[in-house]
Amino acid sequence: MKTTGGTDDQKRRAGESAAEAVTDGAVVGLGTGSTAAFAIRAIGRMVDSGLDVRGVPTSFASRELAREQSIPLVDLEEVVGGDEPGIDLAIDGADQVVIDEGGAEEDVGAMIKGGGAAHAREKVVDAAADRLLVVADPSKEATTLDSAVPVEVLPDARATVAREIRAAGGEPTLRRAQRKDGPVVTDNGNLVLDCSFGAIDDPASLARTIATVPGVLEHGLFVGLADEVHVGTDDGVRVIE
Ligand code: 5RP
Repeated sequence: MKTTGGTDDQKRRAGESAAEAVTDGAVVGLGTGSTAAFAIRAIGRMVDSGLDVRGVPTSFASRELAREQSIPLVDLEEVVGGDEPGIDLAIDGADQVVIDEGGAEEDVGAMIKGGGAAHAREKVVDAAADRLLVVADPSKEATTLDSAVPVEVLPDARATVAREIRAAGGEPTLRRAQRKDGPVVTDNGNLVLDCSFGAIDDPASLARTIATVPGVLEHGLFVGLADEVHVGTDDGVRVIE
């Protein structure tokens, strides 16, 4: 079966490979999307077999799936700060990830996220984790990021953010809900502008530029966060560290 980009088998191999890094007592960030869902299901089976794991969901969807899998859940406030254990690792998907080491070395692991409009909370959880394991299928691999960058904006700031995105060389498009009239509304009650910049030669610089625009809650460029990328293939998993 083929879903967005890769096959379910490729996504399953990636998700299950990353889930193997979950150890007894771990606090785990639970990413969003169809590939991260395979990791959540694998963690659910580990919980069934007696592993002590607590999950920090990155979206309404990952919270619901984790509940179905009987994974005990905690809020960020319960695990971050003071003497709290923190998040040991997060497992999350990507819409595009630089793994071609022929490109600029500092960009390996840079990604675009937010296909599920969950990138704001994903970035908070992924950045708070000691380690971020990215799960992907081969259709997500890139030498240079060139997909549209999702930008979550306060509804009132939609026009002003769009103007600043154009000034930065991008072309914003309001994300619309499939099979429904009206825009996609995020878990945080905001809108998403998908912003095309063509080939992004300097993801870190573009990330800083978008982040400074008033009214931007968060954008989907994740730079310098990934520790490992698990790419599920037709016959195994490639792990890029
Ligand atoms: C959600 C995301 C997802 O992780 C990303 O869209 C990948 O999803 P999938 O594994 O279904 O292709 O960033 O905001």
